[in-house]
Amino acid sequence: MKSSDKTGLVQNSSNPPENLELNDSKPIIAVTMATSRQGYSVVKHLSKSGIFHIRALTRFPSSQKSEKLSRLDNVQIVKADLLEPETLERCFSGVYGIFGNTTPTKGWVLGRGSMVRDYEIKQGRNLIDIAKKFADLGTLKHFIFSSICKPKDPLKSHPAPGHFTSKWSIEEYILKQGLKELSTILRPVSYYENFNSDLPGIKISERIFPGVVHKNKIWQTIAVDDIGLWANAIFKNPQKFQGEALNIAGEEMTGEEMATLWQQLKGQDSPTVSYVMIPRRVVNLIEHDIGLMANWIERTGYGADLKQLKSLADELQITMTPLVNWLKHKDSQSRVSTHPYIFDLPRKFEALSS
Ligand SMILES: NC(=O)c1ccc[n+]([C@@H]2O[C@H](COP(=O)([O-])OP(=O)(O)OC[C@H]3O[C@@H](n4cnc5c(N)ncnc54)[C@H](OP(=O)(O)O)[C@@H]3O)[C@@H](O)[C@H]2O)c1
Repeated sequence: MKSSDKTGLVQNSSNPPENLELNDSKPIIAVTMATSRQGYSVVKHLSKSGIFHIRALTRFPSSQKSEKLSRLDNVQIVKADLLEPETLERCFSGVYGIFGNTTPTKGWVLGRGSMVRDYEIKQGRNLIDIAKKFADLGTLKHFIFSSICKPKDPLKSHPAPGHFTSKWSIEEYILKQGLKELSTILRPVSYYENFNSDLPGIKISERIFPGVVHKNKIWQTIAVDDIGLWANAIFKNPQKFQGEALNIAGEEMTGEEMATLWQQLKGQDSPTVSYVMIPRRVVNLIEHDIGLMANWIERTGYGADLKQLKSLADELQITMTPLVNWLKHKDSQSRVSTHPYIFDLPRKFEALSS
């Protein structure tokens, strides 16, 4: 059962009432795109920490994903749209911190895919304009913007995919608006979860480890859950991270090495696992920007410093998720496909495009 309090925030009436009151001493953190994979991990870890109230922003407070979020402690589900600044204004009122995330994903169009750079930039500008209002008022103290990993040498980045450059443009807008001092830019790499997506053909199976990058190229990756771990640690250590940017990754391996790891986990008696790269022209056709991203990763690479991250994680008492643990977890949940024909869809697309 949902109801609205005087702030207009949507609440789950099964939560204890004290979790809905905002007049205790817990600082409030607003999380945009809270129902996303990344948003969920952030809300989950902030909730676990027990020291924050979380305003979880979504366009659809009654969706299943929102319902799942609302069962976490100290979480309020809040209706907001990054394209509607007035909804952000209501949700950011009185918050101590914001975890800001934006999406490039619009409607899918054949030959382009779903990612639109300007769509994401518009959301980022709304997000930052409203954050600035509350920073100027003195209520907002810490802003984390979740961007995408960026190598040090900007020349190496060019040409980068639109859903990367959109995020880096939003970073620049943060600086332009004078928010650097209270901001932290968090820059994750590709999720492990992409290897097990719900898209047909892009799922780990008994015989296949799928990917979009060439089998011999280093590809930095991360468990989406680790983004929440880092965000929580950053909110708990503002003095250490404000004014800083942090590239985060959990692994750096080639596709072949990842497939070998999966094989080792399955045992030598199980069928031979191959790394299968989805043909670039298929990727270009389905999601053009992911094709550009794959070129970029092969040419440039994300550039997170894993050694430095490990020592920072030790200092912050963060245990990052190695790929092998993530695979074990997936395996134990028996969510991996056992069908050898999972690559049918790309093959069909390839047949269409050739
Ligand atoms: N996939 C990767 O490997 C990877 C790696 C690093 C960074 N990223 C970036 O991380 C971001 C999140 O990706 P994800 O895969 O975690 O997301 P996701 O699971 O695909 O979720 C997308 C979310 O966007 C929200 N949304 C869409 N339009 C919105 C709008 N106008 N206003 C507010 N919310 C809106 C939706 O929430 P509601 O429908 O509930 O409103 C939905 O929860 C993206 O920018 C992506 O580029 C992805």
